[in-house]
Amino acid sequence: MPCTVIAGAFWGDEGKGKIISYLALKDKLDVCVRTGSVNAAHTVWLQGKRYALHMVPAAFVYENCRLLIGAGANVHVAKFLEEVEATNVKNRIGLDHQASIIEEKHSIQDKTSAHLKGLGTTGWGVGPAIEERIRRTAKTAKDIPELQQYLTDVATEANNAINAGKKILLEGTQGLMLSLFHGTYPYVTGRDTSASAICSEAGVGPTKVDNVLLVFKAFMTRVGTGLLPGELTKEEAFKRGWFETAAGTGRERRSAPFNFELARKAVMINGSTQAALTKLDILYPECKGARTYNELSTEAKQFINEVEKQTGIPVAIIGTGPEALDIVDRRE
Ligand code: IMP
Ligand code: MG
Repeated sequence: MPCTVIAGAFWGDEGKGKIISYLALKDKLDVCVRTGSVNAAHTVWLQGKRYALHMVPAAFVYENCRLLIGAGANVHVAKFLEEVEATNVKNRIGLDHQASIIEEKHSIQDKTSAHLKGLGTTGWGVGPAIEERIRRTAKTAKDIPELQQYLTDVATEANNAINAGKKILLEGTQGLMLSLFHGTYPYVTGRDTSASAICSEAGVGPTKVDNVLLVFKAFMTRVGTGLLPGELTKEEAFKRGWFETAAGTGRERRSAPFNFELARKAVMINGSTQAALTKLDILYPECKGARTYNELSTEAKQFINEVEKQTGIPVAIIGTGPEALDIVDRRE
């Protein structure tokens, strides 16, 4: 897997953090580049401890992995510094000098705009920060004194790593259905969330990518407003064990069964080569903690076969529990 892009298939919260942390440990990743911004929380469980990461790449769990934040990202300075401290990655994290900065005023604008509130934004200010970047008045990382020690040229580091045959992962945030271009507009985030956009934010060209790993959850969830086909009532979600609250904002997540039509669209637009399927143990509790394919129940295997048949890509990685290593890995 010299260069892999990880993207979300639905509305974020598919469990990308967990998949990335597994790959970091298992494949001994050399480099991980995070894109997007502070609105997205990637949850990682490590030795019984839970991290909800808004800035630091989820591959921090592997101590030899170089961690980068791309030029297309938006950096929340206080959150970045807090997480660098909490994960103890000061000596191996770098920030592109041209990544833009989210300020407190952007969060206030986000929370006080009736329009943005109506879309159910996270309130972190990402939309207003991107607006300011488009006006070309936003601050960038190189303008911030506390960030000087972290500045680097992420595109150069990433491409050098690829050219040297190192293992690099480009970490997408959110999911295709939240894409500004391809999602359920206007109930979307302020950026494109597809694999191409992840490459663009990191500064890696499409010919350099070997693998696009699309992460699905075994059922769908979304926070905020907008279409969710097949949405369950909260009571039904509770009954099925699908009820979740958001890692970032604590908001309740709406839920619905896996939708094959949306899954096919996500595979098409991301150009996915492989799928990861998380939380299989929530649909099939007898699969909890399984680490080999043979341990999965017949029903669970039938569901995996159906996903493969309908999307046309192999389900290579299956999540069976919260810990990074609760995984069935079917890659060669
Ligand atoms: P914004 O990205 O804060 O502007 O919010 C726009 C929409 O995207 C809202 O529906 C948010 O709930 C949703 N959203 C943004 N980031 C995430 C995420 O990381 N996970 C799930 N939903 C998100
Ligand atoms: Mg999340």
